[in-house]
Amino acid sequence: MFMKIFSLSIFLLLEFTFSTNLTGEFTFNGFNQANLTLDGSAYIQSNGLLQLTYTPQTKGHAFLPMPVHFGNTISSFSTTFVFAIVSAYADLSGHGIAFLISPTTNLSSALPSQYMGLFNIQNNGNSTNHIFAVELDTIYSSEFQDINDNHVGIDINSLKSSQSHTAGYYDDKSGSFQNLTLMSHKKMQAWVEYDSQEKRIDVTLSPIGMSKPSKPLLSYDFNLSTVLINNSMYIGFSSSTGTVHTSHYILGWSFMLNGVAPSIDLSKLPKVPTSIVKGRSKIPQIVLPIASASSVLMLVVLVFLYMKSWFKYAELREDWEDEFGPHRFTYKDLHQATNGFKEKELLGTGGFGRVYRGVLPVSKLEVAVKKVSHESRDGTKQFIAEVVSIGQLRHRNLVQLLGYCRRKKELLLVYDYMPNGSLDKYLYSQEKPALNWTQRFNIIKGVASSLLYLHEESEQVVVHRDVKASNVLLDSELNGRLGDFGLARLYDHGTDPQTTHVVGTMGYLSPELVRSGKATPLTDVFAFGAFILEVVCARRPIESGAQGDQIILVDLVIQHWQSGLLPDIADPRLGEWYETEELEMVLKLGLLCSHPVPTAQPSMRQVMQYLDGDAPLPDLSTTYMSFNMLGMLQNEGLDSYVMPYLTTTTSFSSVLSGR
Ligand SMILES: *[C@@H]1O[C@H](CO)[C@@H](O)[C@H](O)[C@H]1NC(C)=O
Ligand SMILES: *[C@@H]1O[C@H](CO)[C@@H](O)[C@H](O)[C@H]1NC(C)=O
Ligand SMILES: *[C@@H]1O[C@H](CO)[C@@H](O)[C@H](O)[C@H]1NC(C)=O
Ligand SMILES: *[C@@H]1O[C@H](CO)[C@@H](O)[C@H](O)[C@H]1NC(C)=O
Ligand SMILES: *[C@@H]1O[C@H](CO)[C@@H](O)[C@H](O)[C@H]1NC(C)=O
Ligand SMILES: *[C@@H]1O[C@H](CO)[C@@H](O)[C@H](O)[C@H]1NC(C)=O
Ligand SMILES: *[C@@H]1O[C@H](CO)[C@@H](O)[C@H](O)[C@H]1NC(C)=O
Repeated sequence: MFMKIFSLSIFLLLEFTFSTNLTGEFTFNGFNQANLTLDGSAYIQSNGLLQLTYTPQTKGHAFLPMPVHFGNTISSFSTTFVFAIVSAYADLSGHGIAFLISPTTNLSSALPSQYMGLFNIQNNGNSTNHIFAVELDTIYSSEFQDINDNHVGIDINSLKSSQSHTAGYYDDKSGSFQNLTLMSHKKMQAWVEYDSQEKRIDVTLSPIGMSKPSKPLLSYDFNLSTVLINNSMYIGFSSSTGTVHTSHYILGWSFMLNGVAPSIDLSKLPKVPTSIVKGRSKIPQIVLPIASASSVLMLVVLVFLYMKSWFKYAELREDWEDEFGPHRFTYKDLHQATNGFKEKELLGTGGFGRVYRGVLPVSKLEVAVKKVSHESRDGTKQFIAEVVSIGQLRHRNLVQLLGYCRRKKELLLVYDYMPNGSLDKYLYSQEKPALNWTQRFNIIKGVASSLLYLHEESEQVVVHRDVKASNVLLDSELNGRLGDFGLARLYDHGTDPQTTHVVGTMGYLSPELVRSGKATPLTDVFAFGAFILEVVCARRPIESGAQGDQIILVDLVIQHWQSGLLPDIADPRLGEWYETEELEMVLKLGLLCSHPVPTAQPSMRQVMQYLDGDAPLPDLSTTYMSFNMLGMLQNEGLDSYVMPYLTTTTSFSSVLSGR
């Protein structure tokens, strides 16, 4: 049966572009004649380009429809493919592409975003997956111990790569390592080879057009027969996006069992659209006066110089923005302040973009500049009005927004610089000193009062939507200051209204928010509850255990509480110096805030009263029980394709249920 289909397809597909034969060999120079098994967002464009993904929070797969017979102990094989990653933004992209060998083409339970369309929270790391993959990853996911946001990794049953390396290649002549930027929109070629004698996996990368570098980027000694246990396995590609529109393209692909993959004919490959961004900037019209030849030449030089600097520092500015004058920074100043957005000045990468340290040229004021990707569209007045209204929010526990600058595709937000960085570093890194109880309690109270201000005391109700330790910055006196407020709403304005997504971070998302997609002050209260537990215990809301299982912080706290050992769950680095009653009250408040039933949650005003000791915490003697939120959501009928998953963070949360 298999022979029949296979030989039939030789006749059907004997075009120049595609050939296959029973020795397990094929070449696709473009996918026009290809018969692939596609799912998710994957499709083959009319020019033969295989596009795996485009819109945010999607995944796509493409497999050879018939399995490859690798034999009972995996034979040697070799494969090569040409790919390109084209993001809507220059410095931010969706997750990436993986070549994979899998016992099944049905990956419907795999998740997009950091899960690459390969695994999900339950099965990541599970040896029953029998999946081998090579990931080309453009996002740093700390939960999988990624090395950076531009790497190639060998994945055995898990997104935690067995071996990985910054994307690039070893130059044949000099032997030196050359970086490649995966999301550079440039075409690149990758080779994945397995030597069954040596039991070695080699992965090599190169820019398009270069012959295969002789030294592989990754070389990993591993017996693939221990993973790929079935004689016949499917081979193909998986890809996923996170919050950003990103096209993942495969242009050509070849494969050979027990031999060297045939070379791909680069001249026959389909073209890749250079950019998926719509809209173009207006170029000022310049009228040359009629004059003598020399002055024309002079003028041309001047115009050239002007245009050069105009392009470098080009901004978008419209008349109505004048009313926001004081809030507007010039791009030139911000460029100078941050030394041209040098890597050295990078303070961090958040959910919305990169943050750089800078010193403003004239005032010498130290600032933090956040670059937010943003598709400029018509009707940005409302958008800027929003930025300005964020700038008007003032509270001693908020990181002050000083102003903004707008360019094509990009918004720059200028904030007060916080010398002590973000709170999560103090909780999770041994390099920073441990915070004592008084400092932690003070930070919790500070963040609570900033949320109370945003919810009830500012002119309009502002829902933060992403309360967590990494969004809390510490000023010079170690006061907690909430950052990124208001951004979630801006982000909504800046993206395609057709794609619904929940902004926030897994583990901090209330079930109500995930169900309705609607952020309210109470969804902030939920995240604040997770934040309290995080600060006291120095543990993330969801952590992976040694067996690849999920440790849910809320569950742990409840277990300790039920066995009368509540203080034992607190961060050991706190030492003995805390008031047990206060600590227990704060932990119970964390549980109360994280209650999955909104009517049981307190408002921020009540939270503040409990923290200040102005009101006693209500009796929490209800029987709590925990259950898995993902399971609960699936029962709600949410499809795994449309489920919103976010890029930056850990994993999904289990929550409490009342009674
Ligand atoms: C099948 O592959 C082998 C090995 O590369 C090659 O020698 C042979 O010509 C191929 N046959 C066809 C029909 O393409
Ligand atoms: C594609 O491959 C599948 C599986 O081998 C087969 O059932 C189907 O008929 C093929 N389609 C074409 C157009 O060759
Ligand atoms: C291997 O193949 C057998 C028979 O086709 C199937 O029952 C089994 O589930 C496969 N194993 C895996 C890990 O897919
Ligand atoms: C794919 O697997 C899921 C379970 O993981 C199952 O519900 C679904 O029916 C399968 N789809 C196909 C086409 O086999
Ligand atoms: C691995 O997957 C199997 C089957 O899906 C499941 O029974 C087992 O509990 C999982 N193991 C872990 C550690 O998750
Ligand atoms: C490659 O990139 C890394 C990280 O961005 C950088 O530290 C290194 O200097 C670069 N190496 C070369 C040769 O460009
Ligand atoms: C590789 O793994 C297979 C399956 O577990 C085993 O039969 C074989 O002996 C292993 N080979 C070596 C060299 O360890």
